[in-house]
Amino acid sequence: MPNMGRYEEVVNSFSWEISEKELGYRPGDIINIGEYCSDRNLRLGRKDRPALIWEGHSGEVKKYTFYEMSVLTNTIAGFLKNLGLQPGDRICLFMDRIPELYFGFLGILKMGGIAQPLFSAFGSESLITRLEDAQTAAIITQRKHLPKVRNIVESLPYLKHIIVVDDDGTKSLREKEIAFHMDKAPRLEKFDIYPSRAETPSVLHYTSGTTGKPKGAQHVHYSLISQYITARYVLDLRENDIYWCTADPGWVTGTSYGIIGPWANGNTQCVLDAGFKAETWYRFIEKYKITVWYSAPTAIRSLMKEGEEAVRRRNLSSLRHLCSVGEPLNAEAVHWSKNVFGLPFHDTFWQTETGSIVISNYPEMPVKAGSMGKPFPGVTATVVDLKTYQPVNKPGVVGLIALKPGWPSMFRTYWRNEATYQSKFKNGWYICGDRASIDEDGYYWFVGRDDDVINTGGHLVGPFEIESALLEHPAVAESAVVGKPDPVNMEVVKAFIALKPGNSPSQELELDIMNFIRKKLSPLAMPQEIEFVDSLPKTRSGKIMRRVLRAKEWGEEIGDTSTLEND
Ligand code: WT7
Repeated sequence: MPNMGRYEEVVNSFSWEISEKELGYRPGDIINIGEYCSDRNLRLGRKDRPALIWEGHSGEVKKYTFYEMSVLTNTIAGFLKNLGLQPGDRICLFMDRIPELYFGFLGILKMGGIAQPLFSAFGSESLITRLEDAQTAAIITQRKHLPKVRNIVESLPYLKHIIVVDDDGTKSLREKEIAFHMDKAPRLEKFDIYPSRAETPSVLHYTSGTTGKPKGAQHVHYSLISQYITARYVLDLRENDIYWCTADPGWVTGTSYGIIGPWANGNTQCVLDAGFKAETWYRFIEKYKITVWYSAPTAIRSLMKEGEEAVRRRNLSSLRHLCSVGEPLNAEAVHWSKNVFGLPFHDTFWQTETGSIVISNYPEMPVKAGSMGKPFPGVTATVVDLKTYQPVNKPGVVGLIALKPGWPSMFRTYWRNEATYQSKFKNGWYICGDRASIDEDGYYWFVGRDDDVINTGGHLVGPFEIESALLEHPAVAESAVVGKPDPVNMEVVKAFIALKPGNSPSQELELDIMNFIRKKLSPLAMPQEIEFVDSLPKTRSGKIMRRVLRAKEWGEEIGDTSTLEND
């Protein structure tokens, strides 16, 4: 029996108090996510249960029980506190998916810090924009990523400590750098957990928009109330589940459902710190008898490409429930998974800003392949008109997904950018920035984003960030960056570039520019294709019209071009 009953009944009877009660929380109480995910599980008799089963890319395995996790997160919290870091300080996690990343996250929360996870493939430029904005006080990293931090340390006056988790301290560490070994450090059985309350800031996740620099979505400890209950109702996590979330904690799925939700439910989590490979993934599921699996459409499409044979070679009968997030889950992917795993992937929709799943397919509800499902009980959602922001109230009419503020895990602001936060609200609705329609049965159907942000393999990249970085290349005069359709990643980055006089297009220059972006920003932001052009379409006021270039890539109507300068 799934944790959540029949959708219609739960919608009518649900209140967030159910989640509060299950967690033993009353309004006004102390609530610390770090405590709930680790120590609370000891009180509930889960001391010897594996909390984390970790496998590295060369096959090494590490296992930690909830007891060990509690001690190690204390140890990290104590170390950070001893360094003089204060509650409210932003502490960045810049690591591969190693155990220190997961325990570091909870350790930061235990000492009252604000955890700022950043994707370890980020280059120095991506790093600096986010650390500068957050005025980050410390960064926890690995030796292999240290050069990227050293590159920019001079420009970060707020950065006091660079903690290196895999250095023995005898290697030439520089000023501000300090070695910390999780397994060798003096173990702290007890730690005085910071008495955070519902509205105490917890996590800062950076997300890209169409314009300007990435924005820090700021979350609070009370988000746990949503993350816990959605992990129970949507992911259907039950007491003895073995769960695998394939997302990296550099992105919100990897924290809300790769750390908080599952551990607040006391589940064993498996982590594979290796790139995508169908054979490896199936072996991983078989080896650890994964029961609940949360992944993304790009990964599912990649598995489809590998074919059914790869699935048949393994015993995957442990799988019980599958969910997906991050991009539109096409109907074929749902049919395919039903066919080869005997289980459909359940699409879930949410954002960095929402902190937890807000629209989804539920275990007890029939899946309409290709639909995102229905609003989570306790979340009031609708689709509003593109111009008036009034609910369209008519099946099949496309508008913007809008949510009534008030669910516990909603972001509280954009870090030091309240104006942009306020601009997300219209007529009392939070506007997600995605277009969708609702059918006559109340199911939501995704149409597309309402801005120029590119969704590549479930990761958002901002065209502005890439265009700004391109301008730093000596040969680039101007550029426009758009998403181009891709059969696996849904979209990939394509750049249109006008060169400075004296430069001419060549394959060599193309590769040079691609590498330039890969190093500066990240492999995700690297253009997969560059088209050299003489000039870019602009409005009369000189703004580059990405819309025109994008429409061409997608074979769509260009629409109103009356304001084009060089039309
Ligand atoms: C954007 C949010 C929180 C999940 C990880 C991404 C797109 C998300 C779906 C879905 C179609 C989806 C939207 C959304 N998106 N889930 N099920 N179907 N699109 O978090 O980086 O903040 O991205 O991802 O465009 O706004 P994010």
